[in-house]
Amino acid sequence: MTGPDPETANTARVYDYLLGGAHNFAADREAARRAVAATPILPVAARANRAYLGRVVTWCLQQGVRQFLDLGSGVPTVGNVHEIAHRIDPATRVAYVDVEPVAVAVADDLLRGLPTATVTRADLADPDAVLAAPGVADLLDFAQPVAVLAVAVLHFVPGDVGAVLAAYRRRLAPGSVVAISHGSDDLDDPDLAAMLRAGAESYRGSAMPVTYRSRAEIRGLLAGLDVVEPGLVDATNWPVADPSAPPSAFYALVGQVR
Ligand SMILES: C[S@@+](CC[C@H](N)C(=O)[O-])C[C@H]1O[C@@H](n2cnc3c(N)ncnc32)[C@H](O)[C@@H]1O
Repeated sequence: MTGPDPETANTARVYDYLLGGAHNFAADREAARRAVAATPILPVAARANRAYLGRVVTWCLQQGVRQFLDLGSGVPTVGNVHEIAHRIDPATRVAYVDVEPVAVAVADDLLRGLPTATVTRADLADPDAVLAAPGVADLLDFAQPVAVLAVAVLHFVPGDVGAVLAAYRRRLAPGSVVAISHGSDDLDDPDLAAMLRAGAESYRGSAMPVTYRSRAEIRGLLAGLDVVEPGLVDATNWPVADPSAPPSAFYALVGQVR
Protein backbone atom coordinates (compact mmCIF):
# COMPACT_ATOMS: atom_id res chain seq x y z
CA MET A 1 0.00 0.00 0.00
CA THR A 2 1.23 3.51 -0.77
CA GLY A 3 1.57 6.53 1.56
CA PRO A 4 -0.78 9.52 1.70
CA ASP A 5 -1.19 11.54 -1.49
CA PRO A 6 -1.80 15.15 -0.39
CA GLU A 7 -2.83 16.13 -3.94
CA THR A 8 -5.78 13.73 -4.07
CA ALA A 9 -8.76 14.13 -1.78
CA ASN A 10 -9.50 11.13 0.39
CA THR A 11 -12.74 10.24 2.15
CA ALA A 12 -11.09 9.74 5.57
CA ARG A 13 -9.61 13.24 5.54
CA VAL A 14 -12.70 14.84 3.97
CA TYR A 15 -14.75 13.33 6.80
CA ASP A 16 -12.20 14.57 9.34
CA TYR A 17 -12.61 18.08 7.90
CA LEU A 18 -16.43 17.81 8.01
CA LEU A 19 -16.18 16.89 11.70
CA GLY A 20 -13.90 19.85 12.41
CA GLY A 21 -10.63 17.86 12.59
CA ALA A 22 -7.15 19.02 11.59
CA HIS A 23 -5.81 15.94 9.76
CA ASN A 24 -6.59 16.99 6.20
CA PHE A 25 -4.89 18.58 3.19
CA ALA A 26 -5.98 21.46 0.91
CA ALA A 27 -7.29 18.95 -1.68
CA ASP A 28 -9.49 17.35 1.00
CA ARG A 29 -10.85 20.72 2.13
CA GLU A 30 -11.62 21.67 -1.48
CA ALA A 31 -13.38 18.33 -2.07
CA ALA A 32 -15.32 18.79 1.18
CA ARG A 33 -16.43 22.28 0.11
CA ARG A 34 -17.60 20.91 -3.27
CA ALA A 35 -19.45 18.06 -1.56
CA VAL A 36 -21.11 20.42 0.93
CA ALA A 37 -22.12 22.78 -1.89
CA ALA A 38 -23.90 19.85 -3.55
CA THR A 39 -25.13 18.28 -0.31
CA PRO A 40 -25.52 20.96 2.39
CA ILE A 41 -26.65 18.44 5.02
CA LEU A 42 -23.25 16.68 4.96
CA PRO A 43 -21.69 18.25 8.10
CA VAL A 44 -24.88 17.67 10.13
CA ALA A 45 -25.14 14.15 8.70
CA ALA A 46 -21.51 13.39 9.64
CA ARG A 47 -22.10 14.49 13.23
CA ALA A 48 -25.36 12.50 13.39
CA ASN A 49 -23.55 9.44 12.13
CA ARG A 50 -20.80 9.87 14.70
CA ALA A 51 -23.42 10.20 17.46
CA TYR A 52 -25.03 6.94 16.25
CA LEU A 53 -21.62 5.26 16.49
CA GLY A 54 -21.41 6.34 20.14
CA ARG A 55 -24.91 5.04 20.92
CA VAL A 56 -24.32 1.71 19.23
CA VAL A 57 -21.03 1.17 21.10
CA THR A 58 -22.79 1.90 24.40
CA TRP A 59 -25.61 -0.48 23.44
CA CYS A 60 -23.10 -3.26 22.62
CA LEU A 61 -21.46 -2.78 26.02
CA GLN A 62 -24.87 -3.01 27.67
CA GLN A 63 -25.30 -6.37 25.90
CA GLY A 64 -22.04 -7.55 27.49
CA VAL A 65 -19.88 -7.26 24.36
CA ARG A 66 -16.31 -6.33 25.29
CA GLN A 67 -14.56 -6.60 21.90
CA PHE A 68 -14.90 -4.37 18.84
CA LEU A 69 -13.65 -4.65 15.26
CA ASP A 70 -14.12 -1.16 13.79
CA LEU A 71 -13.89 -1.38 9.99
CA GLY A 72 -13.27 1.93 8.22
CA SER A 73 -12.62 3.56 11.58
CA GLY A 74 -11.48 6.89 10.11
CA VAL A 75 -9.18 9.58 11.45
CA PRO A 76 -9.54 9.50 15.25
CA THR A 77 -11.79 12.30 16.44
CA VAL A 78 -14.04 13.05 19.39
CA GLY A 79 -15.72 9.91 20.77
CA ASN A 80 -13.54 7.10 19.45
CA VAL A 81 -14.76 3.57 20.13
CA HIS A 82 -12.10 2.71 22.74
CA GLU A 83 -12.70 6.01 24.59
CA ILE A 84 -16.45 5.37 24.88
CA ALA A 85 -15.89 1.72 25.80
CA HIS A 86 -13.14 2.33 28.35
CA ARG A 87 -15.39 4.71 30.31
CA ILE A 88 -17.62 1.69 30.92
CA ASP A 89 -15.01 -1.10 30.99
CA PRO A 90 -11.29 -0.30 30.57
CA ALA A 91 -10.61 -3.94 29.65
CA THR A 92 -12.62 -3.64 26.41
CA ARG A 93 -10.51 -4.49 23.37
CA VAL A 94 -10.80 -2.50 20.16
CA ALA A 95 -9.19 -3.32 16.79
CA TYR A 96 -9.40 -0.39 14.39
CA VAL A 97 -9.00 -1.01 10.64
CA ASP A 98 -8.71 1.60 7.92
CA VAL A 99 -7.20 1.66 4.46
CA GLU A 100 -6.12 5.30 4.55
CA PRO A 101 -2.56 6.03 5.73
CA VAL A 102 -3.23 9.32 7.56
CA ALA A 103 -6.13 7.77 9.51
CA VAL A 104 -3.88 4.86 10.49
CA ALA A 105 -0.89 7.05 11.42
CA VAL A 106 -3.00 9.33 13.65
CA ALA A 107 -4.62 6.32 15.33
CA ASP A 108 -1.22 4.68 15.79
CA ASP A 109 0.03 7.79 17.66
CA LEU A 110 -3.10 7.98 19.79
CA LEU A 111 -3.04 4.31 20.76
CA ARG A 112 0.70 4.04 21.52
CA GLY A 113 1.24 2.30 24.86
CA LEU A 114 -2.39 1.16 25.11
CA PRO A 115 -2.48 -2.66 25.32
CA THR A 116 -6.24 -2.89 24.65
CA ALA A 117 -6.44 -1.18 21.24
CA THR A 118 -4.68 -1.56 17.89
CA VAL A 119 -4.90 -0.11 14.43
CA THR A 120 -4.33 -2.06 11.22
CA ARG A 121 -4.02 -0.70 7.73
CA ALA A 122 -6.08 -3.00 5.50
CA ASP A 123 -8.91 -3.09 2.99
CA LEU A 124 -12.07 -4.26 4.76
CA ALA A 125 -13.14 -5.91 1.50
CA ASP A 126 -10.43 -8.53 2.13
CA PRO A 127 -11.79 -10.21 5.30
CA ASP A 128 -9.13 -12.96 5.29
CA ALA A 129 -6.34 -10.36 5.40
CA VAL A 130 -8.13 -8.29 8.07
CA LEU A 131 -8.87 -11.27 10.30
CA ALA A 132 -5.32 -12.62 9.97
CA ALA A 133 -3.60 -9.28 10.66
CA PRO A 134 -1.74 -9.36 14.01
CA GLY A 135 -3.57 -6.24 15.26
CA VAL A 136 -6.83 -8.15 14.91
CA ALA A 137 -5.92 -11.83 15.37
CA ASP A 138 -3.71 -11.27 18.43
CA LEU A 139 -6.13 -8.83 20.13
CA LEU A 140 -9.61 -10.26 19.60
CA ASP A 141 -10.87 -13.65 20.77
CA PHE A 142 -13.48 -14.74 18.24
CA ALA A 143 -14.68 -17.50 20.57
CA GLN A 144 -16.24 -14.64 22.59
CA PRO A 145 -18.72 -12.02 21.28
CA VAL A 146 -17.27 -9.33 19.03
CA ALA A 147 -19.07 -6.26 17.67
CA VAL A 148 -18.15 -5.62 14.04
CA LEU A 149 -18.76 -1.96 13.20
CA ALA A 150 -18.91 -0.71 9.60
CA VAL A 151 -20.12 2.82 10.13
CA ALA A 152 -20.34 5.31 7.24
CA VAL A 153 -18.00 3.21 5.15
CA LEU A 154 -19.87 0.58 3.10
CA HIS A 155 -21.10 3.17 0.56
CA PHE A 156 -17.40 3.64 -0.32
CA VAL A 157 -17.04 -0.09 -1.03
CA PRO A 158 -18.36 -1.19 -4.43
CA GLY A 159 -19.48 -4.71 -5.25
CA ASP A 160 -20.94 -7.45 -3.11
CA VAL A 161 -20.49 -6.07 0.42
CA GLY A 162 -23.09 -8.58 1.60
CA ALA A 163 -20.61 -11.37 0.83
CA VAL A 164 -17.85 -9.39 2.56
CA LEU A 165 -19.94 -8.98 5.74
CA ALA A 166 -20.92 -12.66 5.59
CA ALA A 167 -17.23 -13.61 5.68
CA TYR A 168 -16.79 -11.66 8.94
CA ARG A 169 -20.03 -13.08 10.30
CA ARG A 170 -18.87 -16.66 9.82
CA ARG A 171 -16.15 -16.01 12.42
CA LEU A 172 -18.52 -14.54 15.03
CA ALA A 173 -19.65 -16.31 18.21
CA PRO A 174 -23.27 -16.14 19.42
CA GLY A 175 -24.03 -12.78 21.03
CA SER A 176 -21.80 -10.97 18.55
CA VAL A 177 -23.12 -7.87 16.81
CA VAL A 178 -22.79 -6.36 13.34
CA ALA A 179 -23.65 -2.65 13.25
CA ILE A 180 -23.65 -0.59 10.08
CA SER A 181 -24.62 2.80 8.79
CA HIS A 182 -24.91 3.39 5.06
CA GLY A 183 -25.53 6.47 2.92
CA SER A 184 -28.51 6.15 0.59
CA ASP A 185 -30.60 8.10 -1.86
CA ASP A 186 -33.58 5.78 -1.23
CA LEU A 187 -35.36 8.37 0.91
CA ASP A 188 -38.97 9.38 1.51
CA ASP A 189 -38.15 13.04 0.87
CA PRO A 190 -37.60 13.49 -2.92
CA ASP A 191 -35.73 16.79 -2.47
CA LEU A 192 -33.31 15.21 -0.02
CA ALA A 193 -32.87 12.22 -2.36
CA ALA A 194 -32.04 14.61 -5.24
CA MET A 195 -29.54 16.40 -2.98
CA LEU A 196 -27.87 13.08 -2.12
CA ARG A 197 -27.63 12.15 -5.80
CA ALA A 198 -26.01 15.50 -6.58
CA GLY A 199 -23.55 14.85 -3.76
CA ALA A 200 -22.64 11.43 -5.17
CA GLU A 201 -22.19 13.04 -8.58
CA SER A 202 -19.59 15.39 -7.04
CA TYR A 203 -17.59 12.31 -5.93
CA ARG A 204 -17.80 10.62 -9.36
CA GLY A 205 -14.42 10.17 -11.01
CA SER A 206 -12.67 10.97 -7.71
CA ALA A 207 -10.61 8.56 -5.65
CA MET A 208 -13.69 7.95 -3.50
CA PRO A 209 -16.79 7.28 -5.61
CA VAL A 210 -19.98 6.58 -3.67
CA THR A 211 -22.15 3.50 -4.15
CA TYR A 212 -25.59 4.15 -2.71
CA ARG A 213 -27.70 1.13 -1.91
CA SER A 214 -31.48 0.98 -1.52
CA ARG A 215 -33.19 0.27 1.79
CA ALA A 216 -33.87 -3.32 0.65
CA GLU A 217 -30.22 -3.80 -0.32
CA ILE A 218 -29.02 -2.41 3.02
CA ARG A 219 -31.40 -4.70 4.94
CA GLY A 220 -30.03 -7.61 2.88
CA LEU A 221 -26.49 -6.88 4.11
CA LEU A 222 -27.40 -8.28 7.55
CA ALA A 223 -29.45 -11.23 6.27
CA GLY A 224 -29.23 -14.17 8.66
CA LEU A 225 -28.76 -12.01 11.76
CA ASP A 226 -31.43 -11.17 14.33
CA VAL A 227 -32.23 -7.55 13.53
CA VAL A 228 -32.23 -5.37 16.65
CA GLU A 229 -35.20 -3.01 17.16
CA PRO A 230 -36.08 -0.56 15.67
CA GLY A 231 -34.66 -2.16 12.50
CA LEU A 232 -33.54 -0.02 9.58
CA VAL A 233 -33.99 3.67 10.46
CA ASP A 234 -32.27 6.96 9.83
CA ALA A 235 -29.16 6.98 12.06
CA THR A 236 -30.60 9.88 14.08
CA ASN A 237 -33.45 7.55 15.11
CA TRP A 238 -31.42 4.57 16.35
CA PRO A 239 -32.38 3.19 18.81
CA VAL A 240 -34.92 5.88 19.80
CA ALA A 241 -36.63 8.23 17.35
CA ASP A 242 -35.66 11.89 17.69
CA PRO A 243 -38.41 13.82 15.87
CA SER A 244 -36.57 17.11 16.48
CA ALA A 245 -33.46 16.00 14.51
CA PRO A 246 -33.22 16.48 10.75
CA PRO A 247 -32.65 13.23 8.81
CA SER A 248 -29.00 12.34 8.25
CA ALA A 249 -29.58 10.24 5.10
CA PHE A 250 -27.44 7.54 6.72
CA TYR A 251 -29.44 4.38 7.43
CA ALA A 252 -28.54 2.53 10.62
CA LEU A 253 -29.00 -1.21 11.05
CA VAL A 254 -27.83 -3.52 13.83
CA GLY A 255 -27.98 -7.31 13.87
CA GLN A 256 -27.01 -9.91 16.42
CA VAL A 257 -25.69 -13.45 15.97
CA ARG A 258 -28.03 -16.01 17.54
C1 LIG B 1 -16.72 8.53 6.37
S1 LIG B 1 -15.37 7.81 7.20
C2 LIG B 1 -16.17 7.02 8.59
C3 LIG B 1 -15.29 6.92 9.82
C4 LIG B 1 -15.96 6.27 11.03
N1 LIG B 1 -16.37 4.92 10.76
C5 LIG B 1 -17.13 7.07 11.50
O1 LIG B 1 -18.26 6.67 11.23
O2 LIG B 1 -16.94 8.12 12.12
C6 LIG B 1 -15.04 6.40 6.16
C7 LIG B 1 -13.73 5.71 6.47
O3 LIG B 1 -13.70 4.44 5.81
C8 LIG B 1 -12.40 4.25 5.28
N2 LIG B 1 -12.50 3.29 4.17
C9 LIG B 1 -13.06 3.49 2.95
N3 LIG B 1 -12.97 2.36 2.23
C10 LIG B 1 -12.35 1.42 3.01
C11 LIG B 1 -11.97 0.07 2.81
N4 LIG B 1 -12.22 -0.56 1.66
N5 LIG B 1 -11.34 -0.58 3.83
C12 LIG B 1 -11.08 0.07 5.00
N6 LIG B 1 -11.42 1.35 5.24
C13 LIG B 1 -12.04 2.02 4.26
C14 LIG B 1 -11.93 5.61 4.86
O4 LIG B 1 -10.53 5.67 4.76
C15 LIG B 1 -12.50 6.47 5.99
O5 LIG B 1 -11.59 6.59 7.04
